[in-house]
Order: sequence, then structure tokens, then C-alpha cells
Amino acid sequence: MFIINEAEEKDLQTIFELEKELFLEEKWSYFQLLEEFKNRFSKIWVLKKEGEVTGYLIFREFPPEIEIFKIGIKRKHQRKGLGTKLLQKLIEVGKEKKISKIFLEVKASNLQAYNFYKKMGFKVFYKRKNYYGKEEALVMLKEI
Ligand SMILES: CC(C)(COP(=O)(O)OP(=O)(O)OC[C@H]1O[C@@H](n2cnc3c(N)ncnc32)[C@H](O)[C@@H]1OP(=O)(O)O)[C@@H](O)C(=O)NCCC(=O)NCCS
Repeated sequence: MFIINEAEEKDLQTIFELEKELFLEEKWSYFQLLEEFKNRFSKIWVLKKEGEVTGYLIFREFPPEIEIFKIGIKRKHQRKGLGTKLLQKLIEVGKEKKISKIFLEVKASNLQAYNFYKKMGFKVFYKRKNYYGKEEALVMLKEI
């Protein structure tokens, strides 16, 4: 069983621990997470499994668009469909709010994430050269 809720400030420390586990040099600091939490355009959702924060999603709403900044699932719970549940909920909520496009940006070498987004129906919309050092960033889009 899992539930998806808006994060509370007390969840940010666990999200920060997950950032360190999942994103290495691209991790956000606790301060960045806190700033995002306070930003009125931003939302942070947490997925809790047996009461434990196991995944999170950070996005901003600029109707009619949403931009995803981060999605992460604790490594030991990956590949069990939880990331899919988070994105499905975002798509569902987006449709209710008349959102028509969801954008995100992913490092070209992050095949795990690329495959995940592709399976969720996102398509490469634009390639940004040398975005992450020498690496390309893929801007992906899903119309909902
Ligand atoms: C990307 C991420 C959120 C996916 O969450 P998840 O719960 O593991 O994904 P799901 O179990 O819902 O997988 C759905 C599909 O994504 C693809 N996928 C997920 N993990 C994959 C992997 N390691 N290798 C290849 N494809 C993968 C598969 O197509 C999978 O479907 P399948 O299991 O039926 O083959 C998770 O792997 C993660 O936290 N990664 C590290 C952080 C990150 O890179 N985030 C994205 C950039 S912001």
C-alpha cells in the first residue's frame, strides 16, 4: 500500500537523503529543497509506503504547462511501478486543471529515466548541447 500527498516541511530531510542517494553531483541541497517548497509555483509530492517516504516528485505549474524538476524512487523500491504511480497521478491532476503539456529535462546518459519517461509517453522535443558539461540534455514533452 502506498499514498501520495503534498510534502510537509518535515519530509524535506528525507527527500534530501534520497537526493544524495539518487542524484550524486546533481543533487539539490536541503536549502534548494526548502526554497522550492516555499515557491508558490512549485509542488513537492511524496509517495509513502508503510508510512515511509519512498519517492517524491518536484514540479512547477505554469498553466497550461507543468515542468517536472525531479522524480525519485528510493533505490531498493525501484522497478516496482511506484514512479509510474507518481507520474500517473500528476497526469490525472493536470487534466483536471486543464494542463495540456508536461515538460522535463533529462541527461542523455540517464537511460533509466529516459526509458521510464518514454514508457510514460514522453517524446524528445529538443536537445540541448553541452548542457551537463559535455553532455546533452533531452527536453521531453507529453501532451495530455
Ligand atoms: C526514474 C525512476 C523515477 C523510475 O521509477 P521506478 O519506480 O523505478 O519506475 P517504474 O517501476 O514505474 O518503471 C516503469 C518503466 O520505466 C522503465 N524503467 C524503469 N527503470 C528502468 C531501468 N533501470 N532500466 C531500464 N528501464 C527502466 C521501464 O520501461 C519500466 O517498465 P517495466 O518495469 O515494465 O519494464 C527511478 O528509477 C529513479 O528514481 N531513478 C533515479 C533518479 C532519476 O534519474 N530521476 C529522473 C530524472 S529527474
